[in-house]
Amino acid sequence: MSATGHFISFEGIDGSGKSTQARLLADHLRSLGHDVILTREPGGSPGAEEIRALVLQGDPDRWSAETELLLFTAARRDHMERLILPALAEGKIVICDRFADSTRMYQGLSRGDLRATVDALHDLMIEREPDLTILIDMDPAQGLARAKGRQGIEERFEDFGADLQTRMRAGFLALAEEFAPRFRTIDGARDMETVAADVRHTVESHLNTAHHLAT
Ligand code: ADP
Ligand code: TYD
Repeated sequence: MSATGHFISFEGIDGSGKSTQARLLADHLRSLGHDVILTREPGGSPGAEEIRALVLQGDPDRWSAETELLLFTAARRDHMERLILPALAEGKIVICDRFADSTRMYQGLSRGDLRATVDALHDLMIEREPDLTILIDMDPAQGLARAKGRQGIEERFEDFGADLQTRMRAGFLALAEEFAPRFRTIDGARDMETVAADVRHTVESHLNTAHHLAT
């Protein structure tokens, strides 16, 4: 293991199975003896979890696109400072359910084209990208049906509707091409264990390559 840890993110539309797969991967890596931090965005640190409630609950028009971007970035900065960077410095594997690619999509594309602003703020305040990003790809109708099945209060984005999910799916696939070296796309429309086996192979091959490069 390299002393600088490994930073792995999961991305994809709502209901694609990110949280499920992140948890299964964390369990698997722990069973192999790795020191793993499983976390999520928005949130992951006490301050960022407070911001999570502000951005995910309430009326879809509660925030302007720009204000929302600042809130997500503030949450990420706190999460980086308090949890992710210290864990990586200790050589841990950090698995994060969504990260900056979600901001590139949801704040960058959903209401006008704010992608350049998203990238500028990222460079200024976050800088770091994951070492490996797993995109769980799936049909938006199927993802939305799964997400709606959860019946929670954090439905602000789900309330933006199916059209948003369709654009997000296409956007994530384009992002996977833009950042091809760190992205791996996995078909999420299969049973959990089949998807999980794909995720395990992808991550193990990433960790082996990183290990060879470090030695
Ligand atoms: P996300 O984090 O991407 O929103 P979740 O992991 O929370 O997705 O999954 C959304 C819902 O779909 C959950 O109820 C979960 O149990 C279910 N689910 C996850 N993966 C699968 C799968 N491969 N097949 C069927 N249902 C799944
Ligand atoms: P999440 O809890 O991962 O939802 P789900 O399990 O349904 O995928 O994230 C909640 C919502 O937050 C999701 O609709 C996407 C949105 N989001 C952003 O808009 N920008 C961001 O930077 C992040 C991390 C999430």
